[in-house]
Amino acid sequence: MTVVAEPTTPPDGPRALGSDEWPLLDHLVSTVFRPEMFHDYPQLFNASNRANLRVIREGGQLVTHVGFTIRPAVLLGPVITVACIGAVATAPEARGRGLGSVCVQDAFDHASASGVDLMMISGGRGLYTRVGCREVGADHRFTLEAGNAASRRAVTRPGLTLVPLTAHDIPALGAIHEREAVRFVRPRDDWERAFDCGIVMNTPSDFWGVSDGSGTVAYVVVHRPDRVRNRKDGDVLFVRVVEHAGSRDAVAHALSALIDQYGAGRAEVHVGGHDADLGRVLRHAGLQGVPEPSSGTIRVIDFPGLMGKVRPLIAGRIGHDLASRLVFEADERAGNARGGFTIGDGSRTIRLADHGALGPWLFGDPGDTHPEPDGDRSLAAELALALPLPALWYGVNYV
Ligand SMILES: CC(C)(COP(=O)(O)OP(=O)(O)OC[C@H]1O[C@@H](n2cnc3c(N)ncnc32)[C@H](O)[C@@H]1OP(=O)(O)O)[C@@H](O)C(=O)NCCC(=O)NCCS
Repeated sequence: MTVVAEPTTPPDGPRALGSDEWPLLDHLVSTVFRPEMFHDYPQLFNASNRANLRVIREGGQLVTHVGFTIRPAVLLGPVITVACIGAVATAPEARGRGLGSVCVQDAFDHASASGVDLMMISGGRGLYTRVGCREVGADHRFTLEAGNAASRRAVTRPGLTLVPLTAHDIPALGAIHEREAVRFVRPRDDWERAFDCGIVMNTPSDFWGVSDGSGTVAYVVVHRPDRVRNRKDGDVLFVRVVEHAGSRDAVAHALSALIDQYGAGRAEVHVGGHDADLGRVLRHAGLQGVPEPSSGTIRVIDFPGLMGKVRPLIAGRIGHDLASRLVFEADERAGNARGGFTIGDGSRTIRLADHGALGPWLFGDPGDTHPEPDGDRSLAAELALALPLPALWYGVNYV
């Protein structure tokens, strides 16, 4: 049996980080992760985000931290509010006492009070899955091998070239990004921070544009193949595209061009279920996607609020009459981990038993084994035509 030492001082929190507690937080996340955390996660660790850095203090030290950012996100038109959790840490000597779990729930409650609809978590351990967070996304990962000459020829477009991008290119990047149908609505500050720290999705990254000679038609952000974490000497270099936007022909072209650029053995890209164009270009080039969830896990925070916002998208798929009759109810208040969900149209109802069933039902899952709700079969079948909603991919917004 493991005996966990009881603290001598009662825990203070969870609560927002105090304005004088930055050095204590730096110490905690430096100890648990690495000393560069403040540098690598500027979206989280900046003064304007202090209220969203949730901490527990015991005596002179912070023992637990759960941080999150809040951003709007576009889901094929509707705009929802998303919180992204990261840098979750408990000091080694304080672990196993439930502090992490308490602080995670506090983050959900605080996000809920801030009007957040959906939480994304950059992890999938028991701490999160126990409270209903799930992998979602009917997405695929495509891999282009350096030796696959036929597919490389098929994606290569004469006249397109890779161009390294710098912070000077932020206006051009932003203009390409803002035309994406599924994306975080990104303040310019986030681009500036990403170029400044050079870290995207936890890894040193390069930013490449694809130019057709007259201008940038697409961009890709890639992990630097020689700096991928946990890479061992002798491992084959590979290019991981962690964000793309713009012309899908140009993105596909970039996969092959990047293999040459880095002398890599393969390049891979995550393609959202909604991104039919990139999927089509890559399949036409002879590549097969492997089912892959979006990064991390999600939990809905405010079910009626979220569904109210995406109602126009649902109406586009199943018609105005049914969409406008739908009533979305949660058993518990927004932010709560417990309870189930009911959807009714006045005469028929269906039920999702809990958060674990709700997330994959709404946003799809990689196996495409759509969870079946309980209740009226005909309503379930009609709603299946309205789903899945697109799963968001972090890219530059990863924390
Ligand atoms: C992950 C971490 C934050 C957990 O902090 P903590 O304060 O020990 O969290 P808790 O006490 O609430 O839970 C710890 C463990 O106790 C056990 N536990 C806690 N509540 C439990 C419950 N209700 N039922 C069963 N087991 C439970 C679990 O084994 C749990 O581990 P798990 O979440 O991986 O399943 C901490 O271990 C840490 O800092 N790890 C290194 C950094 C890291 O991995 N961060 C997460 C990035 S995704």
